[in-house]
Order: sequence, then structure tokens, then C-alpha cells
Amino acid sequence: MAKTKVAAKAAAPSVHPATEYQGLCYFPKREPWDRHRPVKVIVTGAGIGGIACAVLISHKVRNATLRIYDRLSKVGGTWAANVYPGVRCDVPSHSYQLSFEPNLDWSEYYPKGTEIQQYYERVVAKHGLTDSFRLQHEVLKAEWQPSKSQWEVEIRDLHTGKIVIDWADFFINSQGRISEPQIPSILGLRDTFKGDVIHTARWPKDFDHTGKRLAIIGNGASGQQLIPNIINDVAHIDHYVRSKTWVSPTFRADLFSAQAGQPGGPKYSEEERKKFHDDPQAYVEHRRKLELSFHQSHRGSDVLGSQANEELRKTITEVMLERLGGDEEWLARVIPDYAPGCKRLTPGPGYLESLKDPKLDYITEGISHVNETGVVTKDGKLHEADAIIAATGFKSGFNTLFPVIGKDGVDLREKWGPEGEIGYPETYLGVMAPGYPNYFIVLQAQGNAWGASAPVQIEITATYIAKCIRKVQSQSYVSLDPREDAVQEFNDIVNGYFHNSVTHDKCNSWFKQGPGASRMLIAWPGTYHHRSDALRDPRWEDFEFKRAQGARLNRFEFFGNGSTERENTGEHQDLANYLKLVGDIDIATLHEAWNE
Ligand SMILES: Cc1cc2nc3c(=O)[nH]c(=O)nc-3n(C[C@H](O)[C@H](O)[C@H](O)COP(=O)(O)OP(=O)(O)OC[C@H]3O[C@@H](n4cnc5c(N)ncnc54)[C@H](O)[C@@H]3O)c2cc1C
Ligand SMILES: NC(=O)c1ccc[n+]([C@@H]2O[C@H](COP(=O)([O-])OP(=O)(O)OC[C@H]3O[C@@H](n4cnc5c(N)ncnc54)[C@H](OP(=O)(O)O)[C@@H]3O)[C@@H](O)[C@H]2O)c1
Ligand SMILES: *[C@@H]1O[C@H](CO)[C@@H](O)[C@H](O)[C@H]1NC(C)=O
Ligand SMILES: *[C@@H]1O[C@H](CO)[C@@H](O)[C@H](O)[C@H]1NC(C)=O
Repeated sequence: MAKTKVAAKAAAPSVHPATEYQGLCYFPKREPWDRHRPVKVIVTGAGIGGIACAVLISHKVRNATLRIYDRLSKVGGTWAANVYPGVRCDVPSHSYQLSFEPNLDWSEYYPKGTEIQQYYERVVAKHGLTDSFRLQHEVLKAEWQPSKSQWEVEIRDLHTGKIVIDWADFFINSQGRISEPQIPSILGLRDTFKGDVIHTARWPKDFDHTGKRLAIIGNGASGQQLIPNIINDVAHIDHYVRSKTWVSPTFRADLFSAQAGQPGGPKYSEEERKKFHDDPQAYVEHRRKLELSFHQSHRGSDVLGSQANEELRKTITEVMLERLGGDEEWLARVIPDYAPGCKRLTPGPGYLESLKDPKLDYITEGISHVNETGVVTKDGKLHEADAIIAATGFKSGFNTLFPVIGKDGVDLREKWGPEGEIGYPETYLGVMAPGYPNYFIVLQAQGNAWGASAPVQIEITATYIAKCIRKVQSQSYVSLDPREDAVQEFNDIVNGYFHNSVTHDKCNSWFKQGPGASRMLIAWPGTYHHRSDALRDPRWEDFEFKRAQGARLNRFEFFGNGSTERENTGEHQDLANYLKLVGDIDIATLHEAWNE
């Protein structure tokens, strides 16, 4: 700070001076230190990511006004959008929930989509946040305003069509990595075909598939899940398969393996649920047992060309053969030529069995175009259909799906897009982007580690974000922004860690940037515990901070008059809350809670 230091006068002034500096004496504000100045946080996306951020931040940051926008009419993200017949999770219900909001009443081992959606809706209501959510609002653009140190966010109200502008100190993008349906650009699909064209993630409520001839394009997890769940009711299915896919058993050996006749696994009986209610210890043990199966080390089987990957190939091949009733000829038709794990493995209960159903044609001939009545394959054959179902996946959500303009006026999509300056999402620890102050991403590139389930991964992210907000909020800062050199070095680690990853094999997969590309985007370079430890104590030295106006002369301006807000609010009951029942004290973390 440019300021001449003059020796302080011997006698300190008895009244608070008008100027902040008098010689070497600095007199900050007359007010006590307020660690919780009001801040506003905008979140895009009301999936598990947006919900967990809203809930955790509402508890972890005081005086935060939260506003969560989603274009859908319900919260739940994936589980509000995907309502195709048979949609369900392949992670056990008691693991696919927030760690602090256990639902003791899950009905099945692998839950249906609606049960998950309803659970998250209840969580929002329970934490009093329903009014913070603005549904049917689409975020169009977010732009950092350096002069205000705030994000200006442009939103379309989908009820009225009106564009509204909202402001926030912090902007959290939890748009989902797989939330924007991808309809292939097949000639004639959109404009010539007379029947319905339906994407699995936009299944119309009133669409009745009974007795219809369906063309189903795609054999990813959505196609695999849809087919066995409708095949009994339809007249015929033409199943278009561009590349083969591995159909795995469950991810971990000791989890229940869902089967064709029981895709949800066992149902929890009345008795089991009662036990969870009556015996909290038994319940937490049940959860831990499930959770542990996810922590088992996997490093090895995802290394291209490794013995472990070969073994995985063998195991999966055996399971596939068994599900095909030992039919070697069928196995040869469906077996992929790339290493298992290159694409996400899915158990797809009932899928392989359905392929042999006489009502289904497994079509590997390429699609030429679509005409009025059906799909024409490259061999010139017309396959008539009443409806075409695109089980064709999603646009990559590892890059922002809408313009996000940073401090240099550059749209993040330009930097990170396949044609961009960098060419792939180059994040800071999978949570931030350099040049985009107070901007956070949830479950996007490098945001998910092997180990715990998605909801718990998101809790780690939300907690990290809360710490960043508290830092800025409490210490006279207006923004924080990760430094380029830290970002570079993190991404060098990512490159090294995944250099021999199975994703380098030839397959199309949303795990990496673009078809044919190989940079691993989905994963953190390490395990869940590794990620959780790396994010526990934010490395403030990796950031550039911008001070608030008042703190330009002295960084400790926030010291105020030497007392704290809590001593002056009149709520004296928490002034001695560092004293606890002895049994509740953990000396290892004593005096480390931010709210003590
Ligand atoms: C069919 C399906 C099945 C799946 N099954 C599993 C599974 O078994 N196990 C598993 O671990 N994971 C599964 N996943 C992955 C699943 O997406 C994640 O586990 C998790 O639900 C992602 O949560 P999210 O909040 O990050 O994203 P999402 O749930 O995708 O939520 C993002 C939200 O952001 C909204 N949004 C995006 N852009 C905008 C915008 N511009 N304006 C307003 N709103 C916007 C979207 O409408 C959406 O509601 C599945 C995904 C799909 C599609
Ligand atoms: N838990 C579950 O049971 C479950 C269920 C559904 C979804 N999910 C999750 O959601 C993710 C996405 O699954 P998804 O099945 O929706 O998408 P996906 O895995 O990306 O699969 C898309 C499919 O469509 C095909 N395709 C795309 N464009 C095509 C075209 N122009 N012509 C022909 N085929 C085309 C792809 O073929 P190529 O392989 O040749 O590109 C692929 O088979 C999964 O990886 C999983 O994480 C999970
Ligand atoms: C600080 O300010 C508060 C609120 O104005 C006041 O109650 C308190 O006495 C002051 N404390 C000191 C040490 O000046
Ligand atoms: C659709 O294409 C097939 C195969 O080329 C052709 O036989 C049929 O007449 C076409 N239908 C229409 C309505 O153009």
C-alpha cells in the first residue's frame, strides 16, 4: 500500500479518529467484526448437485441468500427428467442418498427414478428451501462484472417467456454432466418422419408404447434399461446399434446383482425397515457395508492392457454368455472390440436376454436416413416404425452449456470447447476455473472420484464451496480466483494419472472430451478419500484474492472495533458453546468448528 509511515504520536487519540491511518496507527471501522456479511448465491440446476449445494450452504454459510434455477418443473435433475419406462438407479438406494439425510424407507435395493426424485423433493422441503428454488427458469448466460465483483445472470422465465436479470456474489454451475439430450443429426429424423420422435430423457407422459413398432437407437445404459422394460408390451423393436457395449455384472462383487426378473433387486420388507427405525446402529452398519463395497480399490482394472483389465474382460464375457443362455453365436454378435471400462459399465438387467426375443431385430447396419414411415439403413432397407426412440445420450456437460463470461470477457465454452484455446475443461481441482472469480462447478470435469456415490461426492464439493464463500465473506474480500500456475500443475497431475487409462482405447464415451478423444474428464485423479482430503483445507495460496474497498489500506480492516458480531447481537447463549458435554468433545477437532 502506497502510504508513508510516520511514527505514531505518543498519545493515542481518546476518540475514534475520522481517518483510518494516523501515523502507524490504523483505526478500522467502529463496528465489530461481522464474519457473516450478507452474500447472494445463484445456483444453476436443481439436481442432486444443486440441491446438496443449497442445503449445505444454507447451513454452512450464515446470511446467504440462495436462489436455484432449473428449467424443469420439478427438482431432482436426472430423476425429474428421465421418466422412461423402467428408469432406475444401479447404485443401491441406501448409498444414493445424502449422508446426513438417510431415508430408512427405501422400498428396493436399486430404486426407481420416481422414488429418488421424491426423496430429493422431501429433502428440499425439510430444509425449508422450497421457496429458494425457481423452477421452469432457464439460465441463459452468466457474466462476471469486475466493477461490482458480482455475477450478472440472465434467465428466461419459461412460464412467461420473459427475460429476467439476477445478481449474485457467487455463481454455482450445477447443470449436470448428462442433462442436455442429444438427438442425432440423422437426415429426415426431425422433419420427415411422421411418427413420434422421443428422446429417453424427454419421455412424454402421454406416450403409450403398447402395441407399437419402435425404432430404438442406442445401446448405452438408457437403451439397455428401456428395452427389457417395454418389450413385452410392444409389437416390435428395431434396435440400432452403432457400437457394441459391455454389459457388466454389478460394479462390486458383494452387491446384489440385479437380474432380468428383478431389476430393482430385493425389496426391503416391512420388518427390515422397522429394524432400521428401531435400531439406528444396525442401520448405519447396513449403510456402511454398502458404502464399503464402493471403496474397494479399483486401480488396475482401469489400466489399459493390464492383467486386471484382461481379467475384467473375462469375467464380463462369462456373465454376458450366461445371460445369453450360453449362446456363443449371440455373444460374438454383441461383444465389443474395445477394453471394458472405456465406456461406463452398466449391468442392464434383462437387456441381453431381450436381444434374443423374436420381437427384436438387432441392427448393426448403419442408419442412412429416416423417411416418412421409418428408418432406412445403409443397405437401402426400410424398417417401418410408429415411433423412433433416441436413446442417444447427452451433450457433454463437462463444459458449460450456456455462455459463462469471465473477467477477461471470454466465454468459458470457447476456452474449453474441443476447438478452443485449451481444448478441454481445465479446472482447478474440479471445482473452479481460472479467470472466473467466485465461479464453482459441481460434478463436472474431474469432480468425481472413485469410491463414494455421487451424492456424497457432491457434499464434498458443496463443503469446499461453503469454505470459499466464508473466506471471502468474513475477511473483507470480494472475490477469489484460482491462479493459472496452480491450475496448470493440477492438470499435469491429471494427465499423468490417467496416461494409461482404459479410456484411451477406441470407444465413444461421455467420460472423455468428444468422440474419439481420450482425455479423461469424469474422474478425479485419485480415490474418494484422496479427493476428500485434498479439498478439506482449501489451499488459499493457490488463489488470487480481491480485497473489498474498505480493506485496500489494511488487510485486517475486518478486525473492526475488536469485538465480534456474536458478542453484540444479544444472543448470548452461544458465547460459551465451546463448552460441551465431555462425551461430545473430540479433542482432535476441538476449536476447529467455524461456528463455535
Ligand atoms: C437415465 C440416467 C440414469 C442414471 N443412473 C445413475 C446411476 O444409476 N448411478 C449414478 O451414480 N448416476 C447415475 N446417473 C448420473 C446422474 O446424472 C448423477 O448421478 C446425478 O444425478 C447428477 O446430478 P447433477 O445435479 O449433477 O445433474 P442433473 O441431475 O443432470 O441436474 C442438472 C440440472 O440442471 C438443469 N439445467 C441445466 N442447464 C440449465 C440451464 N441453462 N438453466 C436451468 N437449468 C439447467 C437441468 O434441467 C437439470 O435439472 C444417471 C443419469 C441418467 C441420465
Ligand atoms: N443406472 C442406470 O441404469 C442408467 C440408466 C441410464 C443412464 N445411465 C447413465 O447415463 C449415461 C448416459 O446413458 P445413455 O444411454 O443415455 O447415453 P450413452 O451412454 O451416451 O449412449 C448413447 C447411445 O446412443 C448411440 N448413438 C448416439 N448417436 C447415435 C447415432 N447418430 N446413431 C446411432 N447411434 C447413436 C451411441 O452409440 P456409440 O456408442 O456408437 O456412440 C450409444 O450407444 C450412462 O453412461 C449412465 O451413466 C445410467
Ligand atoms: C464495538 O461495537 C459494538 C457495537 O457498536 C459495541 O457494542 C461494543 O461495545 C464495541 N466494542 C468495543 C471494544 O469498542
Ligand atoms: C422410404 O424409403 C424406402 C426405402 O428407400 C422406400 O421404399 C419408401 O418408398 C420410402 N417411403 C417414402 C414415404 O418415401
